[in-house]
Amino acid sequence: MKNKLYNKTIIEVKNLTKSFNDNIVLNNINFELFEGESLAIIGESGSGKSVLLKNIIGLLTPDKGSIKINGLEMVNLKRSVKEKVLLDLGITFQHGALFDSLQNWENIVFKIRNNEKLSNKDAKKLALSIIKRLGLNSEILTLYPSEISGGMQKRVAIARAICGDPKILLFDEPTSGLDPVTGSLIDKLIKTAVKTVGGSAITITHDMASVCRIADKVILIDRQTISWLGTPNEMLKSNNPKIKDFIKSTNPKLFV
Ligand SMILES: Nc1ncnc2c1ncn2[C@@H]1O[C@H](COP(=O)(O)OP(=O)(O)OP(=O)(O)O)[C@@H](O)[C@H]1O
Ligand SMILES: [Mg+2]
Repeated sequence: MKNKLYNKTIIEVKNLTKSFNDNIVLNNINFELFEGESLAIIGESGSGKSVLLKNIIGLLTPDKGSIKINGLEMVNLKRSVKEKVLLDLGITFQHGALFDSLQNWENIVFKIRNNEKLSNKDAKKLALSIIKRLGLNSEILTLYPSEISGGMQKRVAIARAICGDPKILLFDEPTSGLDPVTGSLIDKLIKTAVKTVGGSAITITHDMASVCRIADKVILIDRQTISWLGTPNEMLKSNNPKIKDFIKSTNPKLFV
């Protein structure tokens, strides 16, 4: 929400439209993410949440529209410039996307190691300090992603995203498949990153409890567009049938 707390726009999406052949996935999407704000994106499976995120980071190119990060137009930006902008972003993908051939600690410090001269010892130390915050222990550092569980891989991907304390965090389903205790640990971490480090976050999630814990603002994507926008409190009280259905079917206890 724009108020005196939020005066700097970090990400601005205007009239974004994306289709794959005849399948119009996103049609005229408009929203802003402000500095210090945590935005949650909800919507049914297949509604286009991941496609939206992939457009923001330039993995997909919109058919129409504009995406600005810190005022810089990202659509059709020169690849080398785009890569520089992306260095300031911490991103997790829905399906992890860790580098199989690298040990977990190398995955975590990947970006930092390429840009700063860090000794292996210091890099491992840094990786260790991050995984401790995620409830993982040191033994996993020298294992490969294939040697740890799916939930652990998820946390290594989150560790990789937050390594170096990026100011913009984009998470696609960071807590899905995790036990509730680990899930709320991740939520706290997102909240801390936004509130104490002054960052901004977009989190795609199906977990309504998580939305209530982390978000300042919620967007519902439905029928190719943003069909509802509000705070988590407004969401819980909303009479919008889609929102009601969504809450009821995902977490009945939250439905008051
Ligand atoms: N590269 C692609 N080529 C063609 N169609 C695609 C591509 N990526 C996504 N789609 C289509 O776009 C639509 C939205 O997909 P998307 O992955 O964004 O859904 P989602 O909202 O993230 O769903 P979920 O909650 O299941 O992750 C789907 O119909 C999907 O088949
Ligand atoms: Mg998705």
